[in-house]
Amino acid sequence: MADFQHVHEVPPEGANADWTIPQNWEAFNADNHRMWDRLFTRQSELLPGRAADAFLRGIDMLKLSNSGIPDYRELNARLEAATGWTVVAVPGLVPDAVFFDHLANRRFPAGNFIRSPLQMDYLQEPDIFHDVFGHVPMLTDPVFADYMVAYGKGGLRSLRFGALHHLARLYWYTVEFGLIEQPDGLRIYGAGIVSSYAESIFALDDPSPNRIDFDLVRIMRTHYRIDDFQQNYFVIPSLEFLLKVTLETDFAPLYANLKALPDIAVADIVPQDSIVTRGTQEFAASRNKK
Ligand code: PHE
Ligand code: FE
Repeated sequence: MADFQHVHEVPPEGANADWTIPQNWEAFNADNHRMWDRLFTRQSELLPGRAADAFLRGIDMLKLSNSGIPDYRELNARLEAATGWTVVAVPGLVPDAVFFDHLANRRFPAGNFIRSPLQMDYLQEPDIFHDVFGHVPMLTDPVFADYMVAYGKGGLRSLRFGALHHLARLYWYTVEFGLIEQPDGLRIYGAGIVSSYAESIFALDDPSPNRIDFDLVRIMRTHYRIDDFQQNYFVIPSLEFLLKVTLETDFAPLYANLKALPDIAVADIVPQDSIVTRGTQEFAASRNKK
């Protein structure tokens, strides 16, 4: 996850100027590796038929089924051969400009800790499982790999327009929580979903959330939830489509227009929406009652 609400301004002690740290793979203990294996087994049994083909191909290509937390020396050899991307370790969330600069240079920053058994199902900060299992397989896909580079460059540009919050929504509703319409059905490609057992079921099967066709400006107007399952998912027709519209659109005039357009609340449907499934929002309503 990257919800662009970072606090620190300078790298912590021991980190490099670009906030990277050595992965120090040798420092992970048997419990850490067991945690990875438990999470990996649970997700890899669930995801065939749910995750996008590109994601499942990435899991195979990177040999993520090898036991234990991946050693980036091996992982990066495979990833770099596929698309020129590498994974770099960082202590936790990093400043926005640092994050974007890594993406623009085909480096994906990954948090260097793994959750505890008590956090099997929920954690606030992205750990290795979310970052590596969730994000890295898609980076083996050449089209998605190019999208992430373009996003990094676009992120740096958005800062100059004071439009980070708009572009952050695009990240959220694609990279983190995106759905894709494959010829054989709706699939997950968002890292926030594929790294979560419960949301991998909810996002595809539950009648509660709205599923709406991707629309760039609509998404950049839409609030999102960082504390629970999403109430909206946006569906792309293909990765090629996602790359093409974002690459070929100059966002500067969109940012200017967005200043005059009201935000859209988290579960609202607007007249121009092309709806895949209209949600009941029952799940969110039941949670709010508690
Ligand atoms: N084309 C966008 C711009 O003009 C950059 C961008 C590309 C943003 C891909 C997001 C994803 O700013
Ligand atoms: Fe993430």
